[in-house]
Amino acid sequence: MKIIIEENYDSLSDRVADLVIERVKEKPNLTVGLITGSTPIGLYKRLVDSQPDFSGVTSFNVDEYLGLPKNSPQSYYHFMHENLFDHLDFNQNFIPESEGDPLQSCRDYEKKIKDFKGIDLQLLGVGRNGHIAFNEPGTSFDSRTHVANLSEKTIEANSRFFKSREDVPKRAITVGLGTLMEAREIIVLVAGEKKADICRKVIKGPVTTDVPASVLQRHGNVTIILDKDAAKLI
Ligand code: GLP
Repeated sequence: MKIIIEENYDSLSDRVADLVIERVKEKPNLTVGLITGSTPIGLYKRLVDSQPDFSGVTSFNVDEYLGLPKNSPQSYYHFMHENLFDHLDFNQNFIPESEGDPLQSCRDYEKKIKDFKGIDLQLLGVGRNGHIAFNEPGTSFDSRTHVANLSEKTIEANSRFFKSREDVPKRAITVGLGTLMEAREIIVLVAGEKKADICRKVIKGPVTTDVPASVLQRHGNVTIILDKDAAKLI
């Protein structure tokens, strides 16, 4: 794993934006795996501000809640449009389909990723319990796109985006760990002191399904970009 420590959240966002723009320059028809949450907001802002040519780029988001209408303000569909897709032109943008039959939607998503010959550059964030996308502790390293039950910790952490804890969906569609590990390159973004403990486990701990992101130690082309607060314990 290559580790890069940045001074703060702003420089982390700049660094990741530069890397993504560079990869698109090298391969204008790049397929990129995208994420939601607080961490990538700075990156998306940088991309929107600098308006690189992404007209050949196809994106696949890693997850979406189930049980929320697509247009609800808390859906990842809404988040991605608000923060990125409405302000920067791509070739195509895919997000797991939360309306309709979820199992069919999982199969369709895997197929779609294959149709595009897999993911060139996968961006990832890490949840406080070590989840990547919505692959919660205990998820098999071989998993493909599937319906996930959210852990209590994740529901708690994500309740900050909802009126109350009860409003947080209990299930989501997520790209599986096996699918994520097939990406040709992975860049992980982690910021803030609250992630320091989990970062230590992800980078230095044993590879275990108890810490889903630890599987990244087995990938040959991973860069973890942390700010100083998140890197405190490594
Ligand atoms: C969410 C998302 C993940 C994201 C993670 C971290 O639950 N499903 O894809 O990486 O939590 O989010 P944040 O950046 O807000 O800490």
